[in-house]
Amino acid sequence: DWNPGNVVAEQVERIRAQVGDARVICGLSGGVDSSVAAALVQRAVGDQLTCVFVDHGLLRQGEAEQVEKDFVDATGVQLKVVDARERFLHALAGVSDPETKRKIIGREFIRVFEDAAREVVEDAGAHGETVRFLVQGTLYPDVVESGGGEGAANIKSHHNVGGLPDDLQFELVEPLRTLFKDEVRAVGLELGVPEVIVWRQPFPGPGLGIRIVGEVTAERLETLRAADAIAREELTRAGLDREIWQCPVVLLGDVRSVGVQGDGRTYGHPVVLRPVSSEDAMTADWTRLPYDVLATISTRITNEVPEVNRVVLDVTSKPPGTIEWE
Ligand code: XMP
Repeated sequence: DWNPGNVVAEQVERIRAQVGDARVICGLSGGVDSSVAAALVQRAVGDQLTCVFVDHGLLRQGEAEQVEKDFVDATGVQLKVVDARERFLHALAGVSDPETKRKIIGREFIRVFEDAAREVVEDAGAHGETVRFLVQGTLYPDVVESGGGEGAANIKSHHNVGGLPDDLQFELVEPLRTLFKDEVRAVGLELGVPEVIVWRQPFPGPGLGIRIVGEVTAERLETLRAADAIAREELTRAGLDREIWQCPVVLLGDVRSVGVQGDGRTYGHPVVLRPVSSEDAMTADWTRLPYDVLATISTRITNEVPEVNRVVLDVTSKPPGTIEWE
């Protein structure tokens, strides 16, 4: 019978056998897969593992803290945090094209991660140790998609490490390779990974960077983060989290419309609510959210986020609309 306790026990043995007393590094993104993979490896080899978290400043409200504090408290992992917020903002300045933004975010992410990895390697070297292994949260569906085969690690998003330079070649530790998503969540709960992480809905690697239509700026990020936090809070309060696949909140940074707020006329930005139901994100339908929940979200956002004076609902299925707006 499948049960998460057995998976943990089995994987802990396998990881110990593979890793021996070498050092291991893992990139944490705040998502389910990398978190559970890291927690498993931590359970197996403790402080031989160092996790690296690159804060690119494109996460939603509270998510960096969930990694830096809640995850660390719950699992005891050694964490190296890189605050790269300014660097990403600088690299994204003046850029509006979605694919260019993705490329920039992916490129910067790899550079920052490489630098951090190099520091971890040098640090270990100073103590006469070698970092030989890199943890990846590859799941069974990723293995199938990439044609299977040991070592056929599928680099699936900007959060995973692509072509590392020659002086940073690691062997892979992939403790989730046989698991489906729901099994990964069960294993995560078994390991005490915080529920907000275990049940996190899909969130794109480029984060809020592709949820601001137009240029990404610090002010726009702050606006979107505030609106998104309200939408998530109300959806959670209404008990809808597990019915919805994900609900991007999108800031139309280059659009302004006239409104009346407080004392007078405003010329603010709209945000779009994009609640979708899906099985695998390949196709999706827009979720028929209760009107009263929509009304609460709209009222709160326009009251509490002064830069936003209009909340609109996306009622397009996929296809033809993608889930994200960029
Ligand atoms: P679309 O917008 O293509 O999204 O319907 C399908 C799923 O993929 C996520 N998504 C991304 N994830 N990097 C990622 O890691 C990306 O560049 C990216 N673009 C979209 C999206 O959130 C949805 O779950």
